Amino acid sequence: MRTLYIIGTGGFAKEVAQVAQALQEAGPPRWQAIEYLARNEGEIGRVLPFGRVTGTDALLAQRPQAADVAIGIGQPLLRRAIAARLAAWPHLQAPNLVHPGAGIDERRVQLGCGNLVARGAQFTCDIEVGDFNVFNLNCTVGHDVRIGSYCVVNPGANVSGGVAMGDACLLGTGSQVLEGLSLCADATIGAGAVVTRSVARPGTYAGVPARALA
Ligand SMILES: CC(C)(COP(=O)(O)OP(=O)(O)OC[C@H]1O[C@@H](n2cnc3c(N)ncnc32)[C@H](O)[C@@H]1OP(=O)(O)O)[C@@H](O)C(=O)NCCC(=O)NCCS
Repeated sequence: MRTLYIIGTGGFAKEVAQVAQALQEAGPPRWQAIEYLARNEGEIGRVLPFGRVTGTDALLAQRPQAADVAIGIGQPLLRRAIAARLAAWPHLQAPNLVHPGAGIDERRVQLGCGNLVARGAQFTCDIEVGDFNVFNLNCTVGHDVRIGSYCVVNPGANVSGGVAMGDACLLGTGSQVLEGLSLCADATIGAGAVVTRSVARPGTYAGVPARALA
């Protein structure tokens, strides 16, 4: 069995470990251990939920054993940068971590790799998702949605049917994107916003209806 390395030691990394642990307990166990990788050596040895910090991310290059890895950082641009580094290390795989309590029919939802789907996230059908996205607690994704890579859909956000999202978008908690709209890459939608028109320019949009923040 492999080790699962979680990159990051903050709150979101702990939530990723919790999803992994739920998968372990739903069985059969997939990993011999869950370990965290920190940015600083000073954190090595820290005990976190379901695992401890065993190194910095430099460890990934030093240990040639095949291993699984998950990005425990909830910021789209950092997710993109880390994924680019991971691509250089063929001994590492980034599985999709789908909580057993998520509502997803993987026959009707195409997931790339490295995606995190938290408990209560609900997907309907004919959905295509790229790599290294986050679908956090109780978000919903409707029919015929297309999502790029490195996006972060925060808790309770709703993506309506037919929406297309580019890479590295962030949907704030409780935000809504109405049906058939598109979001360009690098669009950030504020918590509680309602997106009523397609977003064609990268930037931050907030409010009801969502408007660009100055
Ligand atoms: C929209 C957002 C990205 C803006 O962050 P920011 O660029 O740092 O902006 P600031 O906090 O400096 O706020 C700028 C202005 O926008 C307003 N604003 C911020 N977030 C807002 C929101 N969600 N809805 C409406 N207005 C908002 C602020 O009140 C401020 O207004 P002011 O200039 O009149 O004082 C951020 O507030 C947000 O909503 N992030 C999502 C957070 C989230 O989902 N957290 C869950 C984690 S699990």
